[in-house]
Amino acid sequence: MDLSLSGTTLLVIMLSILFIVWFFKRDQPHKGRLPPGPLAWPIVGNLFQMDLRAPHKTLIKLNEQYGPVYTFWFSGYPAVVVCGAEAVKEALIDHGNEFSGRYLFPVFKSMSNGYGIGFSNGERWRQLRRFTLSTMRNFGMGKNSEEQILEESQHLIAYFRNKKGRPFRADFPLRCISANIICSIIFGERFNYDNKNFHKLIQMVTEIFLTLSSPWTQLYNNFPRIMNLLPGSNQKFFQSVANLKSFLNKTIQSHKESLQKDFFRDYIDSFLLKMDEDKSGINSEFILENLLLSTFNLLLAGIETVSTTQLWFLQILAKYPEIQEKILCEIDMVIGSNRRPAIEDRAKMPYTDAFIHEVQRYIDIVPMNIPHMTTSDVEFRGYLIPKGTFVIPLLTSVLKDANHWETPESFNPNHFLDENGCFKKSTNFMAFSAGKRTCVGEALSRMQFFLILTSLLQNFVFTSVIDREDIDISPVTSSFLVAPRVYEICAVARKSDLEHLMNVSN
Ligand code: HEM
Repeated sequence: MDLSLSGTTLLVIMLSILFIVWFFKRDQPHKGRLPPGPLAWPIVGNLFQMDLRAPHKTLIKLNEQYGPVYTFWFSGYPAVVVCGAEAVKEALIDHGNEFSGRYLFPVFKSMSNGYGIGFSNGERWRQLRRFTLSTMRNFGMGKNSEEQILEESQHLIAYFRNKKGRPFRADFPLRCISANIICSIIFGERFNYDNKNFHKLIQMVTEIFLTLSSPWTQLYNNFPRIMNLLPGSNQKFFQSVANLKSFLNKTIQSHKESLQKDFFRDYIDSFLLKMDEDKSGINSEFILENLLLSTFNLLLAGIETVSTTQLWFLQILAKYPEIQEKILCEIDMVIGSNRRPAIEDRAKMPYTDAFIHEVQRYIDIVPMNIPHMTTSDVEFRGYLIPKGTFVIPLLTSVLKDANHWETPESFNPNHFLDENGCFKKSTNFMAFSAGKRTCVGEALSRMQFFLILTSLLQNFVFTSVIDREDIDISPVTSSFLVAPRVYEICAVARKSDLEHLMNVSN
């Protein structure tokens, strides 16, 4: 009998052994009963099934096949994907504590090493979250911030007015206004739109998001060691991360030098004073690493999300003049043109409020959410999910859930209006996620959306030079933060320059 094996047979046998070993070993660190999902390959898991440009689309397709809870394998680790309004609420709200951990994807780990509010866990995260929420109440949510947003809106209006109705891209000035608002909260400073250092700061943030939203992230999260050896996106990305941290480090240093007891100017001052108070506390999380990473998280989270949403506002208004007309009518009736908008006006402007909510629902800006993790073993829908498991509460599956939205894939402000035209709240509106880990910038963002949009529409009508049928408002696919196609728009003044100047001087 000829016992010699051909190279191909040997390869097949070796791969089979590898597969069997991997198949039985894969559940060992995960002693629970994970839900079923697509068959995964050794080493690469389900990577080849994933659309690297739009992973959320792959996860939605698998939801149709495997139901609301299933397991999807990244290269070496499983993710439990939770889909649909009911299942996501059950996980994030009913089992809030157990699903409140943050899973550190390799890319997030290399950026934060588990420090800072966004990517920490346990007692560290609890201390930082409590502190950030209360500090944001002082600097980012109250009457002061309303005033500050209105002040910032005047700079944006001046920028738009300077364009004299000619077409321009609004993405840059919109980034400037959201950056100025978050910079004022973090380190008490605003910048002129033509300040070169400000441009650099915005560019660093934009570059980090562009890379995070590219297929590179999915490859990095699957094969960090190999990806670390490669040039290109890696170096650019980590260079931007290092530059942003170095900018924040210098800012923290100069705050330390000018710090006054009992007088805090901003988030950094408040944190430094807390560090001073807690100096003797053994378990205090008020240390420099957490200050650096928390300000890094806030800056990243606060610029791109808000400015991208606002860019969509303007492009959608240019595409649907009939919708814009309804908002203009509400503004004229409730606010008029002789005073600035106030946050109390929102309750009297249901159509405007519905428009803002519907833009957020429709654009679905963070479709995959930020990765969650179980903080203890948890029984969930008949499965036993072990502590430390990566969980994806799929926000897109809630914001586009066909069981809850009349026309989930189309832009339709009626989703948030009842038959009498009153604003209709929905618990399925989860653009900011839900539960213990829900976005800390929600109140600030909602305040900005209302005040900036109404301030702009008091002054301008938005049109486009291209045919409105040709404006495509659907999101460009992405692996993290989705973005719109950017069109030039025209901000046509509603009042003459003279009328405007008279109003401003009043
Ligand atoms: C359009 C605006 C925004 C959207 C759609 C948005 C969305 C989100 C989402 C989906 C999460 C993940 C929640 C989860 O893990 O379940 C999140 C977390 C977070 N957001 Fe926002 N965000 C926005 C604006 C902001 C702003 C302006 C800030 C800063 C002031 C901010 C700061 C944060 C932070 C620090 C976290 C992490 C919270 C934690 O881990 O405990 N976000 N955001």
